[in-house]
Amino acid sequence: MIVLGIETSCDETATAVCRDGVIISSHIRSQSIHEKYGGVIPEIASREHEKFLNEMVSDTLNDGGISKEELEGIAVTQGPGLSGTLITGVCFAKGLALGLALPIIGVNHLEAHIFANFLADPALDFPFICLLVSGGHTQLWHVKNFKDYQLMGESRDDAAGEAFDKGARILGLVYPGGPEIEKLAKGGNPNAIQFPRAMMKKNNLEFSFSGLKTSLLYYMDEHKNVNLKDVAASYQQAIIDVLMTKLKWALTHTDCHTCVIAGGVAANQLLRDCSLTKLSGEKVIFPDLDLCTDNAAMIAYLGELYLSKGIKSAINFPILPNMKMA
Ligand code: KG4
Ligand code: ZN
Repeated sequence: MIVLGIETSCDETATAVCRDGVIISSHIRSQSIHEKYGGVIPEIASREHEKFLNEMVSDTLNDGGISKEELEGIAVTQGPGLSGTLITGVCFAKGLALGLALPIIGVNHLEAHIFANFLADPALDFPFICLLVSGGHTQLWHVKNFKDYQLMGESRDDAAGEAFDKGARILGLVYPGGPEIEKLAKGGNPNAIQFPRAMMKKNNLEFSFSGLKTSLLYYMDEHKNVNLKDVAASYQQAIIDVLMTKLKWALTHTDCHTCVIAGGVAANQLLRDCSLTKLSGEKVIFPDLDLCTDNAAMIAYLGELYLSKGIKSAINFPILPNMKMA
């Protein structure tokens, strides 16, 4: 089946085509316009999506050597995400589906992040544990089967990506903060400052990152002439330590021996390195860098999976900015 995927949940405009479980074309346009504001401005993001979607769909189809008439379905992010940006993508996708008389499926962005790991390793099989770490979510999922997911724990406050973004802002770095902190931390001493690790009572699978951000704020207020590399390295280490410890507990608790890491923070090299060293003996999978952060390949892939099972959305399906997975 040939499915066009469209992703507009935040500040990446993305389009991709999936044919029989294989991505044949994928385009991502990141909106750098938000950098100067220190975060995403929803109204600007919606307008940017609107400006580029038409051209990106044409380019993606051309690159894949696919004509509009060959498409057999459309998949679009239904939620979670920003209301305005979701509306832009969903309205565009609905227009295309109506015009081409194609079935359409509204896809859950978080579920798509998890399923990006099937693109990374087609041999991946259920059940597995997923550490989902994005700008809006930090969650541990027991993925038992297709459409059978159990939430084991999540952040009570800030997400891990948010901790990176807010920490970067405190350090005077631009948005998105994850890659900036990672860059600054290179060559820094990760043990220079003992930032707090919250909720570390054994087997507690909940997370909390807002105290960490506050302690960085206090540290920067109280110390002058600090070595910023050491600060960034210590801050990054505190986030990764917590994620790794809880992922390990989740694996032990479920007796699962396969885990996947999904979402934008999965692009972090320290997280990738630690998951291989700290979880040796377990099967650890993470997607290529361009499949970690927001993309449409994961939307097209998951959309095709649903549509090929005969599952589709009614044409009047709503956007769901707070869409849940289970
Ligand atoms: O999944 P994603 O692209 O968008 C959401 O669905 O939220 O994740 C974006 C988040 C941002 O908070 C960004 O700072 C973080 O992922 N991120 C990183 C890295 N690259 C992106 N965090 C740490 N290290 C990175 N290399
Ligand atoms: Zn995402």
